Amino acid sequence: MAIKNIAVIGGGTMGSGIVTVFAMYGFQVTLAEMKTEFVQRALFGIEKSLDKLIQKEKITPLRKEETLNNIVPVIGLTSIPVETELIVEAVNENRELKLSIFKELNGRINPKAIFASNTSSISITELAQSGRPDKFIGMHFMNPVPVMQLVEIIKGYQTSQETYNTIKEMTIKIEKTPIEVNDYPGFISNRVLMPFINEAVFALMEGVSTVEDIDNVVKLGLNHPMGPLTLADFIGLDVCLNIMEVLYNGFQDSKYRPSPLLKKMVAAGKLGKKSGEGFYKYN
Ligand SMILES: NC(=O)c1ccc[n+]([C@@H]2O[C@H](COP(=O)([O-])OP(=O)(O)OC[C@H]3O[C@@H](n4cnc5c(N)ncnc54)[C@H](O)[C@@H]3O)[C@@H](O)[C@H]2O)c1
Repeated sequence: MAIKNIAVIGGGTMGSGIVTVFAMYGFQVTLAEMKTEFVQRALFGIEKSLDKLIQKEKITPLRKEETLNNIVPVIGLTSIPVETELIVEAVNENRELKLSIFKELNGRINPKAIFASNTSSISITELAQSGRPDKFIGMHFMNPVPVMQLVEIIKGYQTSQETYNTIKEMTIKIEKTPIEVNDYPGFISNRVLMPFINEAVFALMEGVSTVEDIDNVVKLGLNHPMGPLTLADFIGLDVCLNIMEVLYNGFQDSKYRPSPLLKKMVAAGKLGKKSGEGFYKYN
């Protein structure tokens, strides 16, 4: 199925980026948010990210205009056109919220449309029970979406091969690299990344080294662009804890137990960059 009309639900960090890339490659994109001010914030962010791409000479000012012309902002799910062929959901990481959105859309939107979720950790197979399991799939974009190459494509238990093929093709059309992953807790990216961050927090808790030096060992010795504790601050310590709990509950394996220090910092409201303090302090 050749898809032309897409709706992205949620215009936060990820939704704005997803809207940007689809619109850049000529897709008609409806951006659905809850309030006018959130739509305005999303459009402002999209313009800023397109300006950055112009500065880096990745796109021309004309392409920016064309991209913006492909975006139709709407308030509320009821304004999403019935004939939409692909829904990409990027609302907050909350199972009940996501399920309720998919259930509502399932009753209204073109029965041939594919439903995709950008969830970082919620089971695609569980979300797929909202109504059309064979046409349900995970599209896990990375942050920042216009820059990052990978899209993890997660097949739920009932996702059809046709759905997978269509989404794989779409991902190639927006010049990203699709990687097929089956639906297990944390998929691949977070199953590898989060225990790595969690282990760095255990090392800090045990006094093996300091925050700066744990990061320096990983940067200078393993050639990562940033250390795990800096990365945790950027992602949000609450998000890291939440994903560790998904891994721990999903596999029932003690190797995924969240570090008590991580739990304590989240309880203290030290969530990283967004709260002004995590492993480092921010202005
Ligand atoms: N931030 C990341 O680095 C990252 C990376 C990969 C995946 N994800 C996943 O992407 C999803 C979104 O994360 P985010 O960081 O963009 O969150 P965010 O908080 O920046 O944005 C969520 C947006 O959803 C909107 N929203 C909530 N309910 C809505 C509704 N009923 N209708 C329309 N809009 C609604 C909110 O107003 C908000 O703007 C989550 O599932 C997250 O796990 C995040």
